[in-house]
Formats: sequence, C-alpha cells, structure tokens
Amino acid sequence: MERREFLLRTMQAGAAVVIPITVISCSKDDDNDIDPPDGNGNGNKIVIDLDSQDYTLLNSAGNAVVINNIIIANTGDDEFVALSAVCTHNGCQITYNHSNGNFPCPCHGSVFAADGSVVEGPASTAVKRYTVAREDNVLTIQL
Ligand code: FES
Repeated sequence: MERREFLLRTMQAGAAVVIPITVISCSKDDDNDIDPPDGNGNGNKIVIDLDSQDYTLLNSAGNAVVINNIIIANTGDDEFVALSAVCTHNGCQITYNHSNGNFPCPCHGSVFAADGSVVEGPASTAVKRYTVAREDNVLTIQL
C-alpha cells in the first residue's frame, strides 16, 4: 500500500493521524548559571563555580563579571558584592572600581556604593543589591 493511500484510508476511517514533530526547546542559559524558579516562591538564583574557567578572574580581588544584568565583584577578603548592573539614571551598565570600592557608571558619572546606594548623581535611586552566599568555591546569588 502506498503511503498516500494509507493516509487517505486512515483519515476516511476517522482515525487520528499522528505526525511526528521535532520539538526544539529553548535551552536555559548556555552557561547553566541560571536556575529556574523552584516553584516554591524562592525565585531564581545565579550559581557561579569559581573553579570554572569562565569565572576564574573572580578569584582575584578587584575583578567583576556581569551575568544577566547583575554585576558580581570580588571586593577582597573573600567578599563578593552583587548589584543590579543597570544604572538607575538612564540604564547604562555600571562597572566596578576596586581602588575606590564603588560602582561607577561610565555614561554620566553616577557612582554607587557596595550596598547599592547612590554616592554621586545624576542617579537618585539606589541599584538593587543581591545576597551572595559562598560555599566552598561556589557562589549563589539569590535573585
Ligand atoms: S546612565 Fe548611568 S549616570 Fe546616566
């Protein structure tokens, strides 16, 4: 029986025709750093393995990375700070200045403290600070 004939007979018989469909799902973050919400209202989190080649620079004080618009900085003495990297003035990405221990915005000069508060305008609203927990060489930033 030809394929076409088979399909016609099957449809005439009222049977459902199942056509295989390839499902391509969107993968989560390629680095597997972002965990989905746990369904218990605990929200998302970013998990950073400091042994990973992607984040080795975070092992040195003064370095910072930006993941999903959150800047994570090694501020020294095994302390890490995570702030929203989006300047509250006009949306530019803030940076980390280890010498001054603050987070300046390169666009119009706003400066944020490690707690996210505004040190210098024109921004007038603090950036959000996130809790960073460290267990061995793994950082967890609760979003
Ligand atoms: S966008 Fe940051 S100071 Fe203007």
